[in-house]
Amino acid sequence: MQIIKNIEELRSIIREWRKEGFSVGLVPTMGYLHEGHKSLIVKAVSENDRVVVSDFVNPTQFGVNEDLSSYPRDIDRDAALCQKAGASLIFHPEPEEMYFKDNCTFVDMDSLTKGLCGRTRPTHFRGVCTVVSKLFHIVTPDRAYFGEKDAQQLAVIRRMVRDLNFAITIVGCPIVREPDGLAMSSRNTYLNKEERKAALILHKSLVIGEEMMKAGERDAAAVKEAITANIESEPLARIDYVEIVDAETLENTARIERSVLTAAAVYIGSTRLIDNFTFQPQG
Ligand code: PAF
Repeated sequence: MQIIKNIEELRSIIREWRKEGFSVGLVPTMGYLHEGHKSLIVKAVSENDRVVVSDFVNPTQFGVNEDLSSYPRDIDRDAALCQKAGASLIFHPEPEEMYFKDNCTFVDMDSLTKGLCGRTRPTHFRGVCTVVSKLFHIVTPDRAYFGEKDAQQLAVIRRMVRDLNFAITIVGCPIVREPDGLAMSSRNTYLNKEERKAALILHKSLVIGEEMMKAGERDAAAVKEAITANIESEPLARIDYVEIVDAETLENTARIERSVLTAAAVYIGSTRLIDNFTFQPQG
């Protein structure tokens, strides 16, 4: 598996691919890849002639007291997974390659980024939009693949692509779960045995909410209350937020009448986990 660290080298490979008439897919990641990432790569491989996986722990999307330095990294393991999944190459730059020391240009958004994860991580989406824009300019993909676990990120990127006229199709891919239901995440590795068990409360509580909606409940507050109460029954869990919002605008909604996103972030010990489901009422 070829690992490219230099922007100009990557650009010249992509120029060669384009001369051959190849389509290009991009799977942006922060590495420490798991089956969720693999599903994105496999989908990208099925839809493009060449696939670039970017593997870069992006410093600008971490807040000052967040886990930038401890974020798990293992490029050899990542390379083996990418190879198996059929990716063409990994783009694995150093932070100095991606950001000039005196970088002062960012991509930011007025709405969509203030609620949900944006409330406790106020600079996070500015960092995500900035690095994803840079990756789009460097790789110039036809399609880019993002997981639905980061539902707010996916909505933000779709909006950014629309607003800034990127000629790129954004492909959202379903959440991949462990056999017991926990959504796959590189941060799951932070959990000890007891926390790993406790973490199941997040998915289980969301399932309760989803069942309520399927049974006809249309009052968002009632669903939110049931999810919250169930999460609170787990002593190791501390809620950051439970929200029911319009799936496209991410604005709060009192009634479940259009497609809604129910999203939650919960600390299990010191590890912050997120999960969600989307529900579209019939008729
Ligand atoms: O979802 C992620 O892993 C990151 O936020 C992304 C999109 C790779 C940007 O750094």
